[in-house]
Amino acid sequence: MPAQHSPVATGPARTGTVVMGIETSCDETGVGLVRDGELLGEALSTSMDQHARYGGVVPEIAARAHVQALVPCVRSALASAGLRPADIGAIAVTAGPGLATALHVGVAAAKAYATALGVPLYGVHHLAGHLAADLVDGEALPDPLIALIVSGGHTSLLRVGDLARDPIVHLGDTLDDAAGECFDKVARVLGLPYPGGPAVDREAVGHDRTALAFPRPLTGRTDAAYTFSFSGLKTAVARWAESHPDTTIPPGDVIASFQEAVVDVLTAKAIRACRDHGIDDLLVVGGVAANSRLRELAAQRCADAGIRLRIPARRRCTDNGVMIASLGDLLVRSGAAPSAPDLAAMPGAFLDRAQLGVPEPALHAA
Ligand code: KG4
Ligand code: ZN
Repeated sequence: MPAQHSPVATGPARTGTVVMGIETSCDETGVGLVRDGELLGEALSTSMDQHARYGGVVPEIAARAHVQALVPCVRSALASAGLRPADIGAIAVTAGPGLATALHVGVAAAKAYATALGVPLYGVHHLAGHLAADLVDGEALPDPLIALIVSGGHTSLLRVGDLARDPIVHLGDTLDDAAGECFDKVARVLGLPYPGGPAVDREAVGHDRTALAFPRPLTGRTDAAYTFSFSGLKTAVARWAESHPDTTIPPGDVIASFQEAVVDVLTAKAIRACRDHGIDDLLVVGGVAANSRLRELAAQRCADAGIRLRIPARRRCTDNGVMIASLGDLLVRSGAAPSAPDLAAMPGAFLDRAQLGVPEPALHAA
């Protein structure tokens, strides 16, 4: 059968456009509505509880939960904004990276809404969405800035210019586990509930973070300055727990010492990247940026180094639809061409620009 012309609008959306953002890359179904940097409405539904007994996200369960939650979330976000579907002028959606089954739900829904409403579709990179997480709370992002992304699946130090237009430069990434993954796995070893990051954060409060000196991986003088590795630290904590079954050290001290090792490495390398590149603005984003000790230590070290620190409010650090709507809004206002109407989910998408599925001619013109 010959290909049909898609009714999805292919010209860029204009300023004054209500952008609906859809996020379904993992276990959160998020919808946000943003216009010219202003948050109009939002809704969030999580399937986290359904995964808890498996100790990690089960892709099929996450996908089914997205199917069930997506339309109600769209309705709820619209209701909270006092808007109707016809008011939506563009759709932004996380096209990757993430769980394939979960991404497909959001991308399919976004294409359906874009087609039904006759509005442009913008596929965006999930991690670039994290970078845009707090744009609705005020200030534009400094340009350039150093960004530390710490999520469940990624840990990267980046040099970011104009988020909507410029290529994103990776200064360093993790060689193995992501910081969030390390929190989740160590929490499991130490008998804490899923998700591990928030549990570690809670249990460490008021405990002695100097009780045990866990390793600080890749912090030697000859190690790659901006590269991370967390699997050795995870193993070190597991080995310690195995070989000290009768320890008198309080569990909270072990947890606090582990957490300190992670946040020490993250903040030290982020500050080093700022210094080496002569950039005085650091942005810390992603689920692990909700960690209270990371926030405290980053604030302290940035103040000492004369670096301006920006970390979104805690509830904007973990996955949500507002960050995707914010990034879509940024793309719309920068005059970006919409993504191709046949946008596909890209579970392994590498972060080298904010938009995904950019039509070839638009990419070459950029
Ligand atoms: O960004 P995010 O919501 O999802 C991904 O894109 O991966 O990050 C989820 C990760 C999980 O590993 C979770 O344990 C971690 O963020 N996390 C935390 C905290 N809150 C969430 N880690 C440490 N402390 C927290 N308070
Ligand atoms: Zn995320």
